[in-house]
Amino acid sequence: MIKNPNEIKVFITRDIPSVGIELLKKEGFEVSVWPNDRPMNRDELIEEGKKANAILTLLTDPVDINFLNECNHLDIISQFAVGYDNINIAEATRLGIPVGYAPGAMSAATADIAFGLMIAVSRKMFYMHKTIAKGEWTYFRPKANLGIELKNKTLGIFGLGRIGVEMAIRCKGAYNMKIIYHNRRPNKEAEQILNASLVSFEELLHQSDVLSVHSALNDETRGIFNKNAFSKMKPGSIFINTARGGIHKEQDLLDALNAGSIWGAGLDVTNPEPMDANNPLLSMPNVAVLPHIGSATVEARNEMSRLAAMNIIEFYKHNRIPNIVNPESLQRKTNIT
Ligand code: DGY
Repeated sequence: MIKNPNEIKVFITRDIPSVGIELLKKEGFEVSVWPNDRPMNRDELIEEGKKANAILTLLTDPVDINFLNECNHLDIISQFAVGYDNINIAEATRLGIPVGYAPGAMSAATADIAFGLMIAVSRKMFYMHKTIAKGEWTYFRPKANLGIELKNKTLGIFGLGRIGVEMAIRCKGAYNMKIIYHNRRPNKEAEQILNASLVSFEELLHQSDVLSVHSALNDETRGIFNKNAFSKMKPGSIFINTARGGIHKEQDLLDALNAGSIWGAGLDVTNPEPMDANNPLLSMPNVAVLPHIGSATVEARNEMSRLAAMNIIEFYKHNRIPNIVNPESLQRKTNIT
């Protein structure tokens, strides 16, 4: 049993903002950080995991069944993200390994990206920017390059949690948009703040002028935005995904855009990531793609670092994890001093 903080080895799988690293060091833990500016591969992760007591992971780390069984001695895994679809939670729980995460830190930053993509798509901004560099800005053309306006339109949120609420607040404030949403459970607080209505998935597809995805990637949501779903969306609607690329089927989205059955799409997440530089979506007028920068602000990344570190600190100090994914695993981790 570990007694002394300096006997606790914390391994961090990438160089994250220093706030969390400093907090861990201040507690006396032995902290080491993967020195390379690239994600770790499976073997590297297992090799380092075997030497650690606690591991602070990123969304690019394959924390799969194999890793978890090779490293089943780990006291805690703390994820530097709100999403944890890279971690096999069922297996971690079975092995009694608690998994912490960092919710809330990036809600405003990610909603800003969703909101920005929505406007960029509605006015073809990314594409129009490129026409200047290609020497295609000739003269004022009354009927060319027309976009669509967002005022009084309907925003459909798929997964109304913290980030979805921030997106809805922006859309309501800026454009007086009507808010509908689809969730597993009603979000009564958000309904009050936003005057939002819970609708079925079918209704969300039928009614949304802008449909913005903010859910987790899991077995229920994987590929849910497919050919069938896109075919039910309003003609002239905009699809936004800032959550996980696996939630939409890219070829089906491309087909819907090519057929003109929806107006456009704004993506901060793709499947796979990174997106290939020759991907046809990148040259479409009504499409805007960003390289997964939803949480990429100084404020959000500092807070993610702090929250991920605090999960580890509080676990060793008080046998509690402020933001835990699988609380049932804690029952197997008692008697830690
Ligand atoms: C998250 O937190 O899950 C984002 O996608 C990456 O920061």
